[in-house]
Formats: sequence, C-alpha cells, structure tokens
Amino acid sequence: MRQHVNPLSRNFAEIERIPFLIEMFGDPKLKLHLDIGCASGEFLFDLALVNTSWNYLGIEIREKLVKTAKLKVIEREIKNLYFVFGNAHNILNDVNSQFIFKKIKSISFNFPDPWFKKRHHKRRVIQPEFINTLSNSLQKGALIFVKTDVKDLFDYMDWTISSNFNFKIIDKKDLNFIGSFNPNKLKTNREKYVIDNQLNIFERIYIKI
Ligand SMILES: C[S@@+](CC[C@H](N)C(=O)[O-])C[C@H]1O[C@@H](n2cnc3c(N)ncnc32)[C@H](O)[C@@H]1O
Repeated sequence: MRQHVNPLSRNFAEIERIPFLIEMFGDPKLKLHLDIGCASGEFLFDLALVNTSWNYLGIEIREKLVKTAKLKVIEREIKNLYFVFGNAHNILNDVNSQFIFKKIKSISFNFPDPWFKKRHHKRRVIQPEFINTLSNSLQKGALIFVKTDVKDLFDYMDWTISSNFNFKIIDKKDLNFIGSFNPNKLKTNREKYVIDNQLNIFERIYIKI
C-alpha cells in the first residue's frame, strides 16, 4: 500500500507552470482533456495512442512519476500528451496557467485519494474552493468526470460539485451527442484493480452551464 502524498505539505508549494499549448502539443487546436491525479499516466498514454483528435494533459503531485512519464513521451515521440508536476490546486490557481481554462473540454478525477479520516478531508483533491475556481473559469459546456470505489468519497465529491449552481449532472447517454475524451471506455490502473476485485464503482458527469 503506497503512502498518500499530503498535498498541503509545504514540499508541494512549488509547482510547474503549464506551458503554452504550442509548447505542449503538436496540434494545439485539438480538443483538450485534463486528468487530475494521473499517477504514472498509463491511462493517458493509452488514450493518446487511440484518440489522436484529442490532446491530453495530466497533473500529478508525485514528481518522480511525472519525470518518468515526461521521458516516456519524448522517447515515444507522442505529440498529443503532456504531464505537469504539482498540486493541481496551486497549478490551476497560478495566474500564469489560467489561460488553460479556455481550452479545456473536460476534466477527470479518477479514483482520487480518499483520505478517510475526517480531519484529513481537507487534503482531498475536490474542495469547494477548487470547484469554485473551476466554476468561475471553465467554459460553458465543459465536463467534469468523477469516479471512485469509495462511497463516502463519492457522496462528498457529488455534494461539493452539485452545491455549485454552475454545474449540472448529465446522463452518460448524453455523451453520445457531446463526445467523450474516452470513447473506447479505457480503464485507469485503479479501475482495473477495482473491476478485478469486483468492487463497486461510483461515477458521475457534470456539465458547466
Ligand atoms: C489513488 S491515485 C489514482 C491514480 C489514477 N487516477 C487511477 O485511477 O489509477 C490518486 C492520485 O492522485 C494524486 N494526487 C492526489 N492529490 C493531488 C493533487 N492535489 N494534485 C495532483 N495530484 C494529486 C496522487 O499522488 C495519486 O497519484
């Protein structure tokens, strides 16, 4: 079992600026998906390979994983995938990175760290202030995907996002019309583990209105 990284630790005050689109991607005009807490990024490598009409950006707080993922992108000469290191809250609140909001079509939070103890809930990646930032900055029509195997965490995330009047729940079926960053329903590493162990998956999609 890996030790969770405390995002509130001072070690994570340092962040990387999100580079300009042209520095990150071969074709900056493609639709952009952001995966927050992407770990080693294997899910994004899989997505980038099959969905060449999308650009994928991963944010991850564990620096070593980001360094390795960046090297893999260069080695494999992948042009529609980029990784940024740091606490997603600090990165997206950084004025130098906020240009990205205008470009984002969707964001995923896949199996975020649950931080079970109540006094640790403030370490959870989905926080009211963060959702407020997203609600003020994302374009209308942008989507947020959340997925977890922890019911308590799901209820907390759902309550936090649904309490913001700029987000509305949409049905999975509506994605057929809107289009998804993951049309082939590829799975993250945690999702594969959850399926293998026959655990429940709780998921929801929200649209910025
Ligand atoms: C349980 S793992 C899930 C990894 C992957 N999404 C999956 O489904 O397999 C959660 C990941 O989120 C990262 N993380 C937690 N808080 C974060 C934050 N504030 N900013 C960026 N990454 C964060 C953790 O380091 C970890 O890699």
